[in-house]
Amino acid sequence: MKTKVIVGMGSCGIAAGANKTYDVLENIKTGDNLDVDLSKTSCVGKCYAEPLVEIIDENGYYLYGGVDEKKIKKVIESHIVNKIPINEYLVKFDKSQDMMESNEEGQVKIALRNCGYMDPESIEEAEERHAYKAILKIKEEKIKDKSVIQSVLDSGIRGRGGGGFPTGLKWQFANNSKSDDKFIICNADEGDPGAFMDRSLLEGDPHAILEGMLIGAYAIGANQGVIYCRAEYPLAIKRLNIAIGQAREKGFLGKNASGIEGFDFDIYVKEGAGAFVCGEETALIASVEGERGMPRKRPPFPAVSGLWKKPTNINNVETLANIPYILLNGPESYNKYGTEKSKGTKVFALTGKIKKGGLVEVPMGMTLKEIIFDLGGGIQDDKSFKAVQLGGPSGGCIPASLIDTPVDYDSVNSTGAIMGSGGMVVMDESTCMVDLAKFFLNFTQQESCGKCTFCRMGTKRMLEILTRITDGKGEQGDIEKLEELSVQIKDNSLCGLGQTAPNPVLTTLKYFRHEYEAHINDKKCPAKVCNALLTYEIVADACTGCTLCARKCPVDAISGSKKEVHFIDQDLCIKCGACDDACNFDSILVY
Ligand SMILES: Cc1cc2nc3c(=O)[nH]c(=O)nc-3n(C[C@H](O)[C@H](O)[C@H](O)COP(=O)(O)O)c2cc1C
Ligand code: SF4
Ligand code: SF4
Ligand code: SF4
Repeated sequence: MKTKVIVGMGSCGIAAGANKTYDVLENIKTGDNLDVDLSKTSCVGKCYAEPLVEIIDENGYYLYGGVDEKKIKKVIESHIVNKIPINEYLVKFDKSQDMMESNEEGQVKIALRNCGYMDPESIEEAEERHAYKAILKIKEEKIKDKSVIQSVLDSGIRGRGGGGFPTGLKWQFANNSKSDDKFIICNADEGDPGAFMDRSLLEGDPHAILEGMLIGAYAIGANQGVIYCRAEYPLAIKRLNIAIGQAREKGFLGKNASGIEGFDFDIYVKEGAGAFVCGEETALIASVEGERGMPRKRPPFPAVSGLWKKPTNINNVETLANIPYILLNGPESYNKYGTEKSKGTKVFALTGKIKKGGLVEVPMGMTLKEIIFDLGGGIQDDKSFKAVQLGGPSGGCIPASLIDTPVDYDSVNSTGAIMGSGGMVVMDESTCMVDLAKFFLNFTQQESCGKCTFCRMGTKRMLEILTRITDGKGEQGDIEKLEELSVQIKDNSLCGLGQTAPNPVLTTLKYFRHEYEAHINDKKCPAKVCNALLTYEIVADACTGCTLCARKCPVDAISGSKKEVHFIDQDLCIKCGACDDACNFDSILVY
């Protein structure tokens, strides 16, 4: 067989230098007449090892990681020319040439079934991997809209955008609304800090999203589709537009879409400016209409009166990516995974202090421990696991003691966190939980659209209190004030942003109250993060008098002569940490 060489060109790969790796391969292939098939793909999920290069030859499948310009030359020389694989660069080896056969460590790839396994800019490669087969099955078997909805209901799939509402039920509501014009919108806003599942799906398998929308449109009777994608995702937008053009050319979109008589359906991409609140469906609709993205009161729900006051169904990217699989393989192929109330699989974006950051897709119900330690490789530098933040700014922290929690909607909710859209930020002992809560609150406060006073002013007051606490100016009663404000903001905000904004504070208070108390009562930060609360002291026995710290101190707080023990004047010290960074003898004690 001819050797295949495939370069991972998702945003993560490109950011790590995959373009240069590809150029080297292309130049060598042309210049040296290297007889290989060279192609591109998207992210396979192993973002921690980018740039990734796959080589498939008669001996099996080889995945090389960290392949920069220099390493690719070595790989070509050794593996392709001399047939000797370089084991030290290998991330994965499989004797089977079909990567899809090897579901790693309990992962089950349904939404991600094609991501990293084909060129996302080639509709032919997508078709080889069954793209548009589900919509063609609907056409050939003349499956009725109600039966499509029944299959989605039977699969048990719930919306992956955070709310977890049953998708089939939502489609039923939209189907019930009578109107000449209806819309289906793909929510590709992905505003959660730390989340990149949707981006990877859009970049890696845009045809799956288009087909999911086609099926949804057919089921509810929509004639127009909109993909609302943030402008910060240029590669996703580019590939979506390429895919839409290809799908139109092949007749999947347009008049009598996919060959279904009377089914006229087309899709366009609307670029959003990247405001978190625009992910909320009524704000999203306003934004598509050219208005300022502000939520409005419901009812009427979008299924009754949405875009341009017409019935509208909004689904998340990952939800839509699952739909063709469900229709093609039957609902039982999907609902055999997962738990009683949380069916199927979920994609998670693993970030933070984790060894193998990237994407994983697992059956619902897998425990946090299995995801973080078995799939994610555990904590960086083998530090101890402290907590994991699920659900972004709307979510909460789950402490190490609850690491055996199964990841399904109900179990996660019972901890006070939420499943959210799938962002999983892992934290080690060096994370200050008060500082973390402040980070998320700062985000929601800035992203509040300002319509409701409780959200606009309440989050501002909470942020002021948190800032005071981390600055060492916390007062008795601050915790109670935070709790009171949290309840008020949750109860009185119009949309999900305000209703969930206090969650990071509430969950950190629930599990890490002692850290808040240490900040307020003892003026100490146990994780040694909040600078204002730290004390820097020189350990006399360890100090060699090298003078480096004194030379680095920006406020001349350190005194001492050469070869003599140095001393920090606490009244002058601004706690910047420069001395600790500079000292080569571990002589600075921080507490
Ligand atoms: C403040 C806020 C931001 C949201 N951001 C997103 C988002 O970026 N992507 C998304 O799919 N859903 C987001 N949602 C949820 C959507 O409003 C909506 O529930 C979802 O797109 C429905 O699709 P699904 O049923 O397939 O999950 C957000 C909700 C709120 C309140
Ligand atoms: S809760 Fe916040 S973001 Fe939502 S409408 Fe009110 S002010 Fe705007
Ligand atoms: S850098 Fe370290 S060893 Fe050198 S004088 Fe400062 S404390 Fe002492
Ligand atoms: S922490 Fe900064 S200000 Fe304080 S002694 Fe060290 S270098 Fe100087």
